[in-house]
Amino acid sequence: MQVVVCKDPEEGARIVTEKILSALEDRPELVLGLATGSTPIGVYQHLIEAHKNDGVDFSAVRTFNLDEYCGLSGDHPQSYRAFMREHLFTGLNIPAENIHFPPSEGPELGEKCRQHEEEILQAGGIDIQLLGIGSNGHIGFNEPTSSLASRTRIKTLTEKTLRDNSRFYEDPSEQPQVASTLGIGTILDAKCILLQAYGEKKAEAVKASVEGPISSFWPGSALQMHADVTFILDEASAARLEMIDYFRKSRAEGLRLQEDNTI
Ligand code: PGA
Repeated sequence: MQVVVCKDPEEGARIVTEKILSALEDRPELVLGLATGSTPIGVYQHLIEAHKNDGVDFSAVRTFNLDEYCGLSGDHPQSYRAFMREHLFTGLNIPAENIHFPPSEGPELGEKCRQHEEEILQAGGIDIQLLGIGSNGHIGFNEPTSSLASRTRIKTLTEKTLRDNSRFYEDPSEQPQVASTLGIGTILDAKCILLQAYGEKKAEAVKASVEGPISSFWPGSALQMHADVTFILDEASAARLEMIDYFRKSRAEGLRLQEDNTI
């Protein structure tokens, strides 16, 4: 596990963007696992700039979003399909057929979720999974006590998650109570995971995920079992880490070794 403490979210967004663009250079048909929420927006803006200003081509990229609310159509402004169109897809040249969301509408969602797992496998698996984290430690909509081996499925949202997102709904009765989400097991199958967390509200979840025992009560802690995961933090979200000095030193040493061409 790597923990990078940045001076601000902008530095974090640049680090994540560089990793994606460098992977895309090596592999034009990159498979990206994408997240919604306020956290990844900076990265999405930089990717759009790279496409518009530097001609970076996304036409062979495949994407799989982490989650989607059940009961909202793709046209609903609070659906994650609408969010992704607004913040990323309209600014890039990813063909519509390469864009995937976990199934959230219509009958037989259980079977459709199983097919969704198949589609990820057929794409060759997720190369880079972007994650945010909820203040309760959820990754995707894998709420506390989600099985650490879970696959794509429907989850009921916790009161804390509903409260965190209630500002988006004028009429509280419109707020969806359930969502489809890639499972924790699905996320752990990604080849590389980049989790961004910014702000003091995330400090407890970051502390539990990075330094706590692995527990379904803090779903982010499952990432400790992944061989290539990086937590990209700012000072506020990293503030409760006991090992913060070690993480700073390790980043500085890593940069030095890279400059020397040692690694
Ligand atoms: P946020 O949400 O990026 O809006 O903070 C993250 C999450 O709840 O997973």
